[in-house]
Amino acid sequence: MLLKGKNVIITGAGRGIGRAIAIACAEEGANLGLVSRTMEEINQTKEIIQSKGFPSKVVIKVADVTNYDVLSKVFKEFYEELGPFNGVIANAGYSRMWATHEFINEKFSEILDTNVLGVFYTFKAAYGLMKKDDKKDKARFIITGSEAYPNAPPRLTAYVASKYAVVGMQKAMASEYKRENINFNMILPTQVDTRLLRGKKAGDGNKADHVLDPSDLNEYYLFLLSDYANRVDDILIFTFDIKETKKLLLDAPDDKKESWDNFQDYLKKESPELYEKVKNLGKLINFIISREK
Ligand SMILES: NC(=O)c1ccc[n+]([C@@H]2O[C@H](COP(=O)([O-])OP(=O)(O)OC[C@H]3O[C@@H](n4cnc5c(N)ncnc54)[C@H](OP(=O)(O)O)[C@@H]3O)[C@@H](O)[C@H]2O)c1
Repeated sequence: MLLKGKNVIITGAGRGIGRAIAIACAEEGANLGLVSRTMEEINQTKEIIQSKGFPSKVVIKVADVTNYDVLSKVFKEFYEELGPFNGVIANAGYSRMWATHEFINEKFSEILDTNVLGVFYTFKAAYGLMKKDDKKDKARFIITGSEAYPNAPPRLTAYVASKYAVVGMQKAMASEYKRENINFNMILPTQVDTRLLRGKKAGDGNKADHVLDPSDLNEYYLFLLSDYANRVDDILIFTFDIKETKKLLLDAPDDKKESWDNFQDYLKKESPELYEKVKNLGKLINFIISREK
């Protein structure tokens, strides 16, 4: 088990990507502290985990990531029940779409508050509770970003601003805390079949082919939480690039797909552009190769 006995805190774990990560972490032996604003949904996440018979301890609490006092109180309760946090995933997020000149002012603020202030509050509330005493087993702070950075699709100005902002925050924090045993990394998904993207149609089985299932992202989070990523800091994992890399990996001759070392020259020849994008993600690609064996 990849995360046996580790304590992982996940915001926005009531549905979508956060729920998928929670289930994947439990399957790998992690104990969990799960947060969202809707008790019924986080409780469902807990029930799914328990129905699968995973031995994880799962603590669920309602909190709004835009309310620092409540979030801080809830994190202290997680600490009392689980102990120091090995991983914290700032995943809760929100979006709405309008032409910029018609964007409702309050909604613009709400999106920034959830996606930017919420990440800051998540880190601030977690910092003193993270396990930072072992450089061979560093604490992980992981942000769910978005391909809205750097693609900036129209009518999503508030969301785009928020997802640009967290890239800057990660860089600042990684540099600020580089002498402490915390790694800061981000996963930047393309479109995923969740309520945020598809509203009530999420999970109806009619998503477009290019839209990912939430569980397609699990391996990225598991990698970043695992021992394999102990020295991985301040990276951005664009899921689109890894998906393209995986396609090339499938087509590669057998002797090239054994490891990143064997594969990288092949990738460089087949797609120099993609190679440039993923060349710093060799550890992740090795992890993916090893899990697919
Ligand atoms: N779906 C995509 O296409 C996509 C693509 C790229 C990135 N992302 C990112 O992925 C992350 C997860 O989104 P998702 O797609 O899984 O959406 P989702 O299905 O709508 O789930 C969002 C989760 O966040 C919680 N949440 C929202 N606002 C919150 C708040 N203020 N405080 C606490 N919890 C809150 C929601 O529960 P409550 O509403 O009950 O609080 C829910 O559990 C977001 O950061 C999003 O930007 C999504």
